[in-house]
Order: sequence, then structure tokens, then C-alpha cells
Amino acid sequence: MLLLHLSDVDEANWTAKFREALGDYPVVQRGDDFDPAAIRYIFVWKPKADAFDGLTQLKAVLSLGAGVDALMRHPDLPRDVPIVRFVDEDLSQKMTDYVLAHVTMHHRLYSRYAADQKARRWVQLYPPAAHETVVGIMGMGVLGQHAAERLKAIGFTLRSWSRTPKSIAGVEGFAGEEAFDAFLSGTDILVNLLPLTPETRGILNYETFRKLRRKLDGGPAIVNAARGGHQKEADIVRALNDGTLGAASLDVFEVEPLPADSGLWDAPNCYLTPHIAAISNERTGVRYFSKILLDHEAGKPLINVVDAKLGY
Ligand code: NDP
Ligand code: OXD
Repeated sequence: MLLLHLSDVDEANWTAKFREALGDYPVVQRGDDFDPAAIRYIFVWKPKADAFDGLTQLKAVLSLGAGVDALMRHPDLPRDVPIVRFVDEDLSQKMTDYVLAHVTMHHRLYSRYAADQKARRWVQLYPPAAHETVVGIMGMGVLGQHAAERLKAIGFTLRSWSRTPKSIAGVEGFAGEEAFDAFLSGTDILVNLLPLTPETRGILNYETFRKLRRKLDGGPAIVNAARGGHQKEADIVRALNDGTLGAASLDVFEVEPLPADSGLWDAPNCYLTPHIAAISNERTGVRYFSKILLDHEAGKPLINVVDAKLGY
């Protein structure tokens, strides 16, 4: 039996779609009458405290999101059960769309011109050519690589930072903590596509911003579409106010929804979206997870399994 446990998402709709896709295979959602010990798979997003209560016979945890940090932090997550995360072309494309929109906006000095327009001011700043602008991507996994390919096609100069070394044509690779400062020192626009783990929490902080290259008119820019836990929001406000950063695009926040009294709402050159960079698509999601479930029932191995030790 498959159990859907989806918070802040249309659980009933996903349940109906899974029932259509899985035919005879039983599907239940929270609030239905079922025996927890009969659940073999749980499809989950933002698990509540009771999410895993009584699920003693789980074969796999299926994550609606590509990011599994909330799952990994759940105190009752069964540690011996594999977690399958969402890897999907539609999701990757949407994330790339977000990254491209914000990188090109900062590269073309959008916030400078928006301010000048408001002030009816005619000032000719000259945005550099794409190849003169270095985009540094933190996280060279599924999403980082997808975005890098499209940014490359536009002509940006690219560098990446990951845990293990990468050799990707047209992308200068940096790996590990020891290479972090060198990576930052040549980056004009910093894009974060890391998973949230104890190692990456708070990585977008004032010290990091100070180490970025100061070549872009107005200062370096950051784009965070990964997790709010990566950023120190007070540091972003400070850096935008004192010019350490020229601009920031943020899709994710330490607390979501972003509290009304957050300094980010009014910070200069700060572009906020409410965690919508890449929302999981119901059609492709149901197809992907139904196939994984049925294949697994037929004895095939799971795919895109999270490394429990690394936390992503
Ligand atoms: P992947 O697991 O495919 O890639 C993760 C990358 O981060 C890898 O390159 C990995 O290095 C690198 N990494 C992990 N830990 C470290 C570390 N300590 N130091 C340096 N590099 C590290 O993830 P995805 O690309 O699929 O997704 C990334 C994140 O995007 C998700 O975890 C999620 O939080 C976020 N996301 C946000 C969405 C939104 O709507 N805002 C939507 C979807 C995802 P290595 O290659 O060496 O292992
Ligand atoms: C995800 C997300 O992790 O939507 O997929 O944030």
C-alpha cells in the first residue's frame, strides 16, 4: 500500500492521480482508514511529527521534492529504509529558467537601471558581455549541471564548486572546503544549488560575500534557489545595505512563509519569490514514482536513492 503524506500541497489530487496510475495497487492518504503496518511506501513532503508512526513495514520513502533535508531531520525517519528523491527534466528545466532569469537580470545591471528609471535619471552604465561575467555555481549535481549547460550556451564564463571534483567541458571546477575561497574570488554572480546539510548550512554569509570578485558594476550578486537554511538573512540585509553585495535573488528563506517583519522585504536590490523556482510537476511526478514503485515490486532496484551518510 502507498500512503501520501503531503503538507502544503494538494494531497487529494495527487492521491487521485496515483490511483489512476497504479490501478489495483492500493493508495491511501492521511485521514483514510488504513492499517499503518500495511504501508510499504510513503510519498512525502514536509512530514509532520506523526508521519512515520506505525509504519513498521516500509520498503521505501519517496520524496516529492528533490531536496530531502526536512526528511533527514525528522527524528522518526526510519534510518534503514531507502529514500528516493525526485529527479525530473521538468523540474530541472524550471530551475534553470529561474537561474537564467535572475543571472541575466543581474548581469545586465537590472537593479541599477530600475532605480534610474524610477528617478527619471539617464546614466549610461555598460554591462559587460556575458563571457566577461563569471557565474559561480555552488552544487554541481542534477540541477547545477542543467543550469550550467544553458548558461554556457548564452556565453557566460562558468565555474563550479562541489564536494568531489568535476570535469565538465567549459566549467572550471573547484572542489572541497580548501578550494572555496579560490572559487569565490573569481565569481561575479554566485548561484546556490547545494543540498542543505550540516556542512552547507549558513554558507551564504557575510564572510562568503566579502570574498566574491568586485568587478560587476554595483557589486557581486547572489542567487539562492536551494534552501533558506543556506543563508544568513541578517548578513544578506547588511551586505546589500553596505554594498558588499550589489543584488540578491532569493527563492527560499530561513522561515517560510517569510515573516512580514523580515528585513529582506525592503532590502535594496533584493528580489524575492515564495519558493516557486521549481515546483514538482504532478503529471511527471506520478509517472516517475509509479514506475519506481511498480519496478521495485517487480524486484528491480530503486533509482536516485539518497546517500543517508551524506544527507543528499
Ligand atoms: P544533487 O544531489 O544532484 O546535487 C548536489 C550537489 O551539491 C552535488 O554536486 C554535490 O557534490 C554538492 N555538494 C553537496 N554537499 C556539498 C558540500 N559540503 N560542499 C560542496 N558541494 C557539495 O542535488 P540537486 O541538484 O538535485 O538539487 C539541489 C538542491 O536544490 C536540493 O537539495 C534542494 O534543496 C534544492 N531545490 C530547490 C527547489 C526550489 O523550488 N527552490 C526545487 C528543487 C530543488 P558532489 O557532486 O561532489 O556530490
Ligand atoms: C524541492 C523543492 O526540493 O521544491 O524539490 O524545494
